[in-house]
Amino acid sequence: MSLETDYHLVQLANGAFSLHSTAHKETFHPVIGPSAEAQALYVEQLELPRRFSETPGEFVVWDVGLGAAANVLTVLKALRNHAGNLTILSFDHSLQPLEAGIMYAKELGYFDGFETTTTTLLKAGKVEFTNGLSTVSWKLHLGDFPTLLHSDKAETWPKPHAILFDAFSPAKNAAMWTLPLFQRLYNLLDPDRACAMPTYSRSTLLRVTLLLAGFWVGTGHATGEKEETTVASNQTRLIKSPLGSAWLKRANNSTSAEPLHQAHYRQSPLSESSRQQLLIHPQFSLT
Ligand SMILES: C[S@@+](CC[C@H](N)C(=O)[O-])C[C@H]1O[C@@H](n2cnc3c(N)ncnc32)[C@H](O)[C@@H]1O
Repeated sequence: MSLETDYHLVQLANGAFSLHSTAHKETFHPVIGPSAEAQALYVEQLELPRRFSETPGEFVVWDVGLGAAANVLTVLKALRNHAGNLTILSFDHSLQPLEAGIMYAKELGYFDGFETTTTTLLKAGKVEFTNGLSTVSWKLHLGDFPTLLHSDKAETWPKPHAILFDAFSPAKNAAMWTLPLFQRLYNLLDPDRACAMPTYSRSTLLRVTLLLAGFWVGTGHATGEKEETTVASNQTRLIKSPLGSAWLKRANNSTSAEPLHQAHYRQSPLSESSRQQLLIHPQFSLT
């Protein structure tokens, strides 16, 4: 395995280890570590074990930013005592983080029992296996996510019940946080299949982007890394704490609320057209 990598192991203040990208100058899970963040942000917040058990047929997870697989492996551990069929689509434009993760599996600590599975995924791009009581089909889509998402092929992907959206921050990875990207993501969902997408960010810019893309949007749980996160969904019933008029007022006054229309990070207040679109979003016109 290559040692020439942009990804290095760092030890966090709480003793846990995480990967750091030299190119993006960002640590994957900088405060509480990889598994603890994934557990709080995705497994507990989305009540994944319950939703998985209650879903007849396949339960589909899109993992955007596979990285070193902490999110997926945490989900797999949480679901292993539950019967069902799990389909995972992981997206990344680089295999380096997963290679580094496997190389530092011992220090990272969350690969336990999944070393062979992740090595097969890395080499073959897909892997099928039994995970306790469930069966899993895990496929890697290697390439630039915005490009893949806008391809015709994306229309054939299994529709997700949950999306683990874990790109680097908008300031460093603007292409992953644009309004056209989230509009396309929303349009690819099945309106009859409730899908929830938590993200670690609570920024006004992101929340406006998700609302203008068509999602219902609410505040998400604290994770230990952030005192508040964000959850978006195509169905209002999955949003437990919807953003309301107080948030809308703050967004109106914010100096960084206008969505990124292109893959270029900048901060600016809401444009008049975005303000008008927000006002007619059913989330606010119903309150
Ligand atoms: C914060 S890390 C993800 C950490 C990961 N979820 C984990 O559990 O270890 C962000 C990931 O997004 C990927 N990424 C960034 N830009 C991308 C793009 N344009 N297309 C696809 N993946 C991208 C990076 O390669 C990186 O692995």
